[in-house]
Amino acid sequence: MITIAAVLKGARQRLADSDTAALDAELLLCHVLGKSRSYLFSWPEQEIDELVEAQFEHLLARRVGGEPVAYLLGRREFYGHEFLVSRDTLIPRPDTELLVDVVLEKLPAEQPLRIADLGTGSGAIAISLGLARPAWQLLAVDYIVAVLDLVERNVGRLHVGNVRPLQSSWYSRLDGVFDAIVSNPPYIRADDVHLKRGDVRFEPRSALVSGADGLDDIRLIIHGAPARLRAGGLLALEHGYDQGAAVRELLQGAGFQSVQTRHDYGGNERVTFGFYGASDAQR
Ligand SMILES: C[S@@+](CC[C@H](N)C(=O)[O-])C[C@H]1O[C@@H](n2cnc3c(N)ncnc32)[C@H](O)[C@@H]1O
Repeated sequence: MITIAAVLKGARQRLADSDTAALDAELLLCHVLGKSRSYLFSWPEQEIDELVEAQFEHLLARRVGGEPVAYLLGRREFYGHEFLVSRDTLIPRPDTELLVDVVLEKLPAEQPLRIADLGTGSGAIAISLGLARPAWQLLAVDYIVAVLDLVERNVGRLHVGNVRPLQSSWYSRLDGVFDAIVSNPPYIRADDVHLKRGDVRFEPRSALVSGADGLDDIRLIIHGAPARLRAGGLLALEHGYDQGAAVRELLQGAGFQSVQTRHDYGGNERVTFGFYGASDAQR
């Protein structure tokens, strides 16, 4: 039998290449023990049985091989909520919370707005908006069936009543017009060296890559938006750290006004938004 403290010490050493070695080891051990991190700190001399040790060893070996902790645990926190995640789509990132903040800031809270989240993945954006604004109706759109199943499960476990999953390739199966369209689409260049590093090695290319300059899907979303937005409607997009100028130009060229870019926690241009062809009075 081995103690919690000894297991964690050995795991930290084996995870020395990870920037988050101690946290990774603790989260994996909490998962197999079914306990909180405070339990690990309160009972370091507690012995764990061989079955739990074997389960931990299995997860640790995968983590040492580079698999993201979120995939090993099957969950990730986003905007204060715990989302189920799967290998069918992206693990939600902290920087994407900025996109949620922009939409909450720019739209009236109490009106029954109709909003589409294109490329919804785990549903993190649509569900966070739906939980924050019960008066809004959210459509959570993705083109991969397995991803829509994941959204259904997150809608159920987070008890959100105003988010509806829809299978569609961007606008192809959408009906009517929307007050806002929000999207964190794939935006990485096909030859980007980052695709060979860290967590993204394990995430699907369908969630990451978008043509030679990374902008193919952003172009499709911007060009399709005028037919799907009411006058004055908001389009808000996440994009790569070096794509802000290109996205502003695309939005202005498509008739969007008051186009602005916000910076992420690392100080990089990350979210750009604009309002479709309307005066201030119509917004
Ligand atoms: C970068 S991930 C974003 C996931 C999630 N919104 C988030 O922020 O964590 C992009 C998502 O777009 C979806 N996607 C890619 N191409 C699509 C298309 N043509 N139509 C709809 N969704 C698409 C992918 O399946 C993936 O779930």
